[in-house]
Amino acid sequence: MTYETIITEQRGRVLLITLNRPEALNALNRKLAGELLAATQAADADPGIGCLVITGSAKAFAAGADIKEMQAQSFVDMHSSDWFAEWNHFAACRKPKIAAVAGYALGGGCELALMCDFILAADTAKFGQPEIKLGVIPGMGGSQRLVRSIGKSKAMELCLTGRLMDAAEAERCGLASRVVPAADLVEDAVKTADTIANMSLTASMVMKEAINQAYELPLASGLTFERRVFQALFSTEDQKEGMAAFVEKRPAQFNRR
Ligand code: HXC
Repeated sequence: MTYETIITEQRGRVLLITLNRPEALNALNRKLAGELLAATQAADADPGIGCLVITGSAKAFAAGADIKEMQAQSFVDMHSSDWFAEWNHFAACRKPKIAAVAGYALGGGCELALMCDFILAADTAKFGQPEIKLGVIPGMGGSQRLVRSIGKSKAMELCLTGRLMDAAEAERCGLASRVVPAADLVEDAVKTADTIANMSLTASMVMKEAINQAYELPLASGLTFERRVFQALFSTEDQKEGMAAFVEKRPAQFNRR
């Protein structure tokens, strides 16, 4: 499939998606949102893909939602089309997805990174929610996911001032899982994704569900959910294979679906 605003490349069981609107620092317009969603949903349905990596350019992961596209919209326009609602479908992708962020990840760009399962940051990465400077607030989950990721105080400060946070601060506060040299970012992300893609796909998808439940459920319910799905995994061939491989001191050969 050929797209206009993204480039897709399959590397083994990993799908690398590169945002590709260099003239607008990968600002997320509706075309890009539609194409990214289509590519993600196709990967979700493809048994040949076990993990996705979303990246941008050296200068910008994405500099936000497309301001020029939004500028003239009214409340009724925004409300009747439920602007940005399609991003919920992207976030709901069931396979693991990694954001590999170099340069600016601002506004919707930061929110897109937050929709991924974790963020690998280049040492050049800059994160922020500068919507306040435009007279609006985040609209793709920033006021919710950012708080859950880095806590209320820092999220409040970043959103109220619009200041940018560098990669070291992003790692310190838990927004980024790791910081790597910019030149190594994509290769590191693909290698990390390859490790994930070669585990049991069933176990990694269930793992995501369990970890994401930590955002939704009270602790006792979350612990029960975890225990039940842990127990359910003993009905899979992958559990038999993974544990047999350990005992027999050999690499496990997991199912690819
Ligand atoms: C549309 C954008 C854009 C954006 C950059 N561009 N960001 N176009 N939407 N979000 C365009 C510029 O207009 C310019 O086009 C080209 O990309 C290069 O950008 P420059 O500003 O010339 O680059 P530079 O001076 O290096 O500055 C980089 C920057 C700055 C600091 C990232 O571009 C910037 O502040 N961008 C906006 C960041 C932002 O506010 N993001 C949040 C958006 S709102 P031309 O044609 O002039 O060359 C959002 C959530 C919305 O994401 C939710 C509420 C509704």
